[in-house]
Amino acid sequence: MTRPAEGHDPQPLFELIEVEKVYMVRRPGSVFSTAKVGLPALDGVRLKIRKGASVAIVGESGSGKSTLLRVLLGLTRPTEGRALYQGRPIDEVRAEGREFARQVAMVYQDARGSLNPRMTIGALIAEPLRHFAICPETDLPARVKALLARVGLPAEVADRYPSALSGGQVRRVAIARALASEPTVLVADEAVSGLDVSTQAQLLNLLRRLQREMALTLVFITHDLGVASYLCEDIAIMYLGRIVETGPTNAVLNAPAHPYARALRRAAPEFFAPITEPLPGEIPSPLDLPPGCRFSGRCDRVQPDCHLSDPALLRFGGPAANRAAACFYPLTESPTAPQKRDIHA
Ligand SMILES: Nc1ncnc2c1ncn2[C@@H]1O[C@H](COP(=O)(O)OP(=O)(O)OP(=O)(O)O)[C@@H](O)[C@H]1O
Ligand SMILES: [Mg+2]
Repeated sequence: MTRPAEGHDPQPLFELIEVEKVYMVRRPGSVFSTAKVGLPALDGVRLKIRKGASVAIVGESGSGKSTLLRVLLGLTRPTEGRALYQGRPIDEVRAEGREFARQVAMVYQDARGSLNPRMTIGALIAEPLRHFAICPETDLPARVKALLARVGLPAEVADRYPSALSGGQVRRVAIARALASEPTVLVADEAVSGLDVSTQAQLLNLLRRLQREMALTLVFITHDLGVASYLCEDIAIMYLGRIVETGPTNAVLNAPAHPYARALRRAAPEFFAPITEPLPGEIPSPLDLPPGCRFSGRCDRVQPDCHLSDPALLRFGGPAANRAAACFYPLTESPTAPQKRDIHA
């Protein structure tokens, strides 16, 4: 499960401790100047992911979801804070050899862009099989076929190039490639968004089965709360570079503690019900964060002191509830002691 970093859990698989990631970008409006400013894509992120967990990372565009995954994969080093895999710095583990890359597979947000257009689908799926020496050379064609079948694609797709596949087929190839290395962790960035419902259901069922049968740890970015609740036991909701609420998915979605989590929940379409309360306003730029709580400008429960400091992600409801929220005025009825205003997260 996801947990905020305090507590005495057994060693998690992944642990992020006060992770900050700042990208240096051109100052907005400075067309002729090369002056750069720091854009805080992640700020004070604390997260624990245990082995076998399934975690949905949810939040609006630009909230830092992909950056968080890049940190988990060791592709980006935090500017501040620590990112650990089995207690050791992720970038160090990654640099040691292939084993981390074999165990932790990634399905990229841009599935088509992640596939070499000059290689056939068969060659693309055979590549990780060969790279990680998963099977003898003679078994490669059968393995490729089995992986294609696993994601619901016919064997003849192996001879085609990515440009000859539909968007949905390309996403399935990306998943087949990720599964080829027989990973223990699958990190997926919008792996099923934009697919037709039957393909999406097939892939979600495949991932759910793998997660249950093989104790695959799943970290799954999605905009779709329905997908999050179907696939992931736990959820982490991000807003402007911070995790604002974590906990068991169904508990969080049924009774959100953070006003942003509730707003997302209310903005999600449901059968036979109009969306009466769309999320107000636009997400601010990370280059222009509001003072205090970064959700304060859009929050329907904002109080004057919300503009004074940024609330920390604190547990509430006791250890069994396994929930945490970053809000001075959470919606749940029995939060632990109110947050101290002097805590700067
Ligand atoms: N390589 C980069 N250089 C500079 N800024 C970046 C870079 N990558 C991301 N950003 C910025 O960091 C912030 C977080 O980006 P990120 O891609 O992590 O968001 P996201 O939650 O994945 O969004 P989306 O849902 O649109 O994929 C954004 O403001 C983005 O513009
Ligand atoms: Mg993204």
